[in-house]
Amino acid sequence: MKLKFDYNNMMDCAIGAHGIKKSEIDGAMTAHQSAFTEVIANSGKGWQEWTETPMISDATVDELCAFGKSIRDKATSFVVLGIGGSALGPICVFNALLHLHHNELPKEMRKAPKIYVEDNVDPERMASLLDVIDIKTSYFNVITKSGETSETLSQFIILYNMLKKALGETAAKEHIFVTTTDGKGSLYNVAKKEGFKIFGIPSGVGGRFSVLSNVGLVPFAVMGLDIKSMLAGARAMRKACENKDVYKNPALMTAFLQVKSMQAGKNISVMMPYADGLRTMADFYCQIWAESLGKAVDKAGKTVNYGQTPAKSLGVTDQHSQVQLYTEGPYDKVVTFIGVEQYGATVDIPNDSADVGDFLKGHTLNELITAERKSTEFALTKAGRSNFTILLPEVNAETVGELLMYFMYQTAFAGAYLNIDTFNQPGVEEGKKATFAMIGRKGYEEKLKELNSAVKKDEYIIC
Ligand code: PA5
Repeated sequence: MKLKFDYNNMMDCAIGAHGIKKSEIDGAMTAHQSAFTEVIANSGKGWQEWTETPMISDATVDELCAFGKSIRDKATSFVVLGIGGSALGPICVFNALLHLHHNELPKEMRKAPKIYVEDNVDPERMASLLDVIDIKTSYFNVITKSGETSETLSQFIILYNMLKKALGETAAKEHIFVTTTDGKGSLYNVAKKEGFKIFGIPSGVGGRFSVLSNVGLVPFAVMGLDIKSMLAGARAMRKACENKDVYKNPALMTAFLQVKSMQAGKNISVMMPYADGLRTMADFYCQIWAESLGKAVDKAGKTVNYGQTPAKSLGVTDQHSQVQLYTEGPYDKVVTFIGVEQYGATVDIPNDSADVGDFLKGHTLNELITAERKSTEFALTKAGRSNFTILLPEVNAETVGELLMYFMYQTAFAGAYLNIDTFNQPGVEEGKKATFAMIGRKGYEEKLKELNSAVKKDEYIIC
């Protein structure tokens, strides 16, 4: 394992009364054991098939990469249509592993076509996409686990219709490939009928745990990323997370510390990477943490209304915005810093003659960002605020694979400590059904009645 996890600043020895005591960790051995067993004994079973996603064979990876290259060689733009767990994995890995201004690079400097992940149905966004892509040379990966999601299906209908008009029926089919649950759902049926290439999602891999299944791997293959290293990283993290010693298992330990903090009123979990490439890793984290742990009832059916609200922050940018609140506001947060030891570029601050900033001259931006991360850790710790640091030696396919797998295990362990169903999302499903009803989908007439009776039409509206 390449990542390091430093949780000193979660402990009372660093932050005083708001910290966790070693005796609390040691006194919870039964809870550690049971959370560990719950996750590890169910590895690969039920909704925990995600633990198996990094175990695919090299031959399967080679096939995916060959497919990816065939698209890469002919596409000017590659567009992912998906939302939630069907979009955030592709987005965060794209940002982490390709150039920060990938789409703006001249063609000869780009390793892949221009890449867009369209997860919203803001009509202006769709119109803007159509202004910048050439539909005739663009390829679309429609990703939806259920095959039923309104946002993704509407985008698919619009773009397939345009492709048919631009290229004719036969050629249009070559520009669409679908990632969905094998043998199930509306999109699967239409893909079969139309003859689109289909990549399967195993039935026991849920959206937010699917980044290392075909949901992520197909886009990563088109992006030309080193999938084998990414999966090797994920397997290394899996191994670390299969260690039953809480002091040696980063996901088990940090899940426990977060849950313990949450139970002590720290209801906000801030994810603060110090790298622009990892900015959207915080989005990935926010989804998996919120959607998995925000639950009304526990497994025994008792109302618990659990959850810790995730918030994203970017170092150093948000030092000049949110860090004041983190340092002096309520004691209701745990801040996770993500640091990078070796950045992908080194930028010198020259010994210029300009009579300003002498203290900076001769240093590098690398030294400055690192000093700022450590200083913020120091300031928070001095103010008695819970924080811990995940350190990546560098951002590459392997460390990104480790980090993604860590987030999945940490979330699974946290759900097990809380004794909730980590893998369902009844709140999201309710909204999806209400959308079907409002938009007039057959079979949702009762839901529409319920909705109409619930909506208060004229009360409490200003203007
Ligand atoms: O994690 C989840 O299950 C959700 O966020 C889904 O990924 C999201 O709702 C999209 O669903 P689907 O992939 O079925 O279109």
